[in-house]
Amino acid sequence: MENSPRIPLVVLGVTGGIGAYKACELARELMRRGMRVKTVMTDAAQKFVTPLTFRTLTGEDVGVSLWDDPTRHVHHISLAAEADVIVIAPCTANVIAKVAHGRADDLLTTTVLATEAPVVLAPAMNTHMWRDDATVANVAVLRDRGVLFVEPGSGELACGDVGEGRLADVIAIADTVEREVARTRALAGVRVVVTAGPTREPLDAVRFLGNRSSGRQGYAIAEEATRRGATVTLVSGPTTLPDPFGVTTIRVETAAQMLAAVDDEYGEADVVIAAAAVADFRPASTVAGKLKKAEAPEELALERTVDILASLGARKDGRVLVGFAAEAGDPVDSARVKLAAKNLDLIVANDVTEPGAGFEVRTNRVTFVSANGDEELPCMDKRAVARELLDRIETILKGGRR
Ligand code: CTP
Repeated sequence: MENSPRIPLVVLGVTGGIGAYKACELARELMRRGMRVKTVMTDAAQKFVTPLTFRTLTGEDVGVSLWDDPTRHVHHISLAAEADVIVIAPCTANVIAKVAHGRADDLLTTTVLATEAPVVLAPAMNTHMWRDDATVANVAVLRDRGVLFVEPGSGELACGDVGEGRLADVIAIADTVEREVARTRALAGVRVVVTAGPTREPLDAVRFLGNRSSGRQGYAIAEEATRRGATVTLVSGPTTLPDPFGVTTIRVETAAQMLAAVDDEYGEADVVIAAAAVADFRPASTVAGKLKKAEAPEELALERTVDILASLGARKDGRVLVGFAAEAGDPVDSARVKLAAKNLDLIVANDVTEPGAGFEVRTNRVTFVSANGDEELPCMDKRAVARELLDRIETILKGGRR
C-alpha cells in the first residue's frame, strides 16, 4: 500500500553492562508498540547477551562489527540513514564518552556519528561513574546537542553499591523512544520556509552594508523542522555554514533577492520563520565597479528595503508567521508592537547586548512573545531554542490555523 505510513525503524544499541538482558525486553516492548527493531551490539555487550537472542526476538540481522559482512561495508551509513530513532540501552560511561567526543571505532558509534535521527541514551553504570565529573560533563555536552537521556534509577547495583546507576525502567525508555518517533513525524506534510543569516547591500562591486548575523539560529530551526518531518526551504543570506542536511537551501545576497526567493515559496508555505537579520536600509545607488576614494560621497544616501515579514503578514491567509526581534535593551515591549504590526503569531525576542545572546555566539537567551503572553527561556544552545520554538509552532498548528 503506497500511502500507508512506513513502519518506524528503531536502531537499538546495546553496550556492555549487566542491564544488557533488559535490552531484550526493550526490543520486545518496542515491537509491541509497532516498531521495527534492528540491534547493534558492542563487543562488550556480547559478553552478556548473544546476537542470536536479539536476532530471534526481532527477526532482524544483528550488527556486531564494522567488518562483519563484506557485502555491506557501509552498514553503519545505511543504519544511520534508515533509523527513525537510535536508542542505546544500556549505555555505558565509555560509550557516553565516545559519543560526546565523536569517537567512531565500532559499528554502534559510527552509526551514531553518521545519523541525523534523534538519539536516546539510557545510561547504566556504577553510581560513582555516573556522578564522576567526566561523565557529568559528557552528559551535559550531549544534552546541549539534543541527545535525550532516560535517567538511571536508584537501587542496589550489580557491583553491590547502592545508589543511582541502574538502567531506567524499560517502559520509560520505550515511552521516550515512542515519543521521539512521533516527533519525527509531527510536521509531516507541513511546508516551512525559514530565512536566515545577514543580507549584504552593495555600495559597489567590493563593498557592502551588512551585519553580524551568523545564520546559526535560522539554520538550527531549518534542521529541527526537517527532523520533525516538515518540507523545509531555507532562504539564506551569506554565511559560512554548510547547507543543512535534507533542507532545500536557496542562497541570496540582498534583501531584494531574499524577498523574491521567499515570495516564490510563499504560495505553498504553511509556516514562515523569519530568522534573517535583513538590512532595513540599502545604499540609494550602487556603483558599478569599485568606487575610488577620491570619488566617495561625503554622506551615504540610503533608502528603505521592503520589510519581507510585514509584506507576508499583509497576505497571511491562515499561515503561521514567526518573526525575530533583536533589540538592545528589554525586547518584550517592542516585540509586542511588532507582533501586531506585522500580523504575526509569535516573536522570538532577544536582547542582543546580553552575554550569551544574539549574533556570533552559539547560545541564545530568548523570550517568546505571542497573543498568549510572554515566555522567558534561560540561556541555551541555539539548537535547543530551535526545539522549543518548533514545539510552540506545533501547538499553534494543532490549533488548526490552516
Ligand atoms: N525582517 C524582514 N525584512 C526586513 C526587516 C526585517 O523580514 N526588511 C524581519 C526579520 O527577519 C525579523 C523581523 O522582521 O524576523 C525583525 O523585525 P524588525 O522590526 O525589522 O526588527 P529590527 O530591524 O530590529 O527593527 P527596529 O530596528 O525597527 O526595532
